[in-house]
Amino acid sequence: MLLTAQNISKRFGGLAALTDVSFAIDRGSIFGLIGPNGAGKTTLFNCLTGVYKPSAGRFTFEGADITGLSEPKVAQRGIARTFQNIRLFREMTVLENVMVGRHSRTAAGLWGAVARDRAARAEERDIQRTAVELLDFVGLAGQEDRLSKHLPYGHQRRLEVARALAAEPSLLCLDEPAAGMNPSEVNGLMTLIGLIRDRGVTVLLIEHHMRVVMGVCDRLAVLDGGCVIAEATPAEVRNDRRVVEAYLGAAVAQ
Ligand SMILES: Nc1ncnc2c1ncn2[C@@H]1O[C@H](COP(=O)(O)OP(=O)(O)OP(=O)(O)O)[C@@H](O)[C@H]1O
Ligand SMILES: [Mg+2]
Repeated sequence: MLLTAQNISKRFGGLAALTDVSFAIDRGSIFGLIGPNGAGKTTLFNCLTGVYKPSAGRFTFEGADITGLSEPKVAQRGIARTFQNIRLFREMTVLENVMVGRHSRTAAGLWGAVARDRAARAEERDIQRTAVELLDFVGLAGQEDRLSKHLPYGHQRRLEVARALAAEPSLLCLDEPAAGMNPSEVNGLMTLIGLIRDRGVTVLLIEHHMRVVMGVCDRLAVLDGGCVIAEATPAEVRNDRRVVEAYLGAAVAQ
């Protein structure tokens, strides 16, 4: 197992956003996290990636307890994410956005790399080369010098993926990457998620878009009201009465 969540709970005052959430993700798989609005999906990402500390429970990643580590520490362990609301540096170029993603992982950090010594310049060239390769990988070749705010929406989502991959994660967490995409962009995203897995990166995917979830995921956990109500293959989940009642009935009708 690459990641296990054991009895994760998160309370916000009187609200139980997550209660005893447990699941396990195999290395090299694509694992989906689905459920209705407010089910706790993003809160789980936030607890995993150090934005929040869980109120109880444990995350084990690559065999180590990472519960409650800070955001930079979690990134250094090899977990990267994208955000439900796109968070790019809008006034920076496409290339710079990806390079910033890489700096979250390097020892020197973003400001260290600004130093003018030779080693830093060599590292900078290396980071730039990797960033260009990643932009090619996500389908944004030739867009390097555009300001990220000028990219169409679907491309901004791809740029977020490239930036997250720049940190060379072993687990990539995607929070609703298909949101706002048109059907052909969604097809491209499904292909991209498969290619990311083929690179050896395990994927944890929050998504409402059922064609994506059912098409790419090896296994799914279904959250409802902060609790896991099913963890199974997409085919099993599709036929689970509780899941259909809580969520899929409405989602399929969308
Ligand atoms: N910082 C916070 N303070 C208080 N309540 C919060 C906070 N973050 C999330 N919540 C609450 O926790 C619950 C779960 O929210 P969360 O954003 O995790 O849901 P979600 O499954 O990601 O929903 P969606 O599909 O709409 O993105 C909601 O009731 C939400 O209002
Ligand atoms: Mg969410």
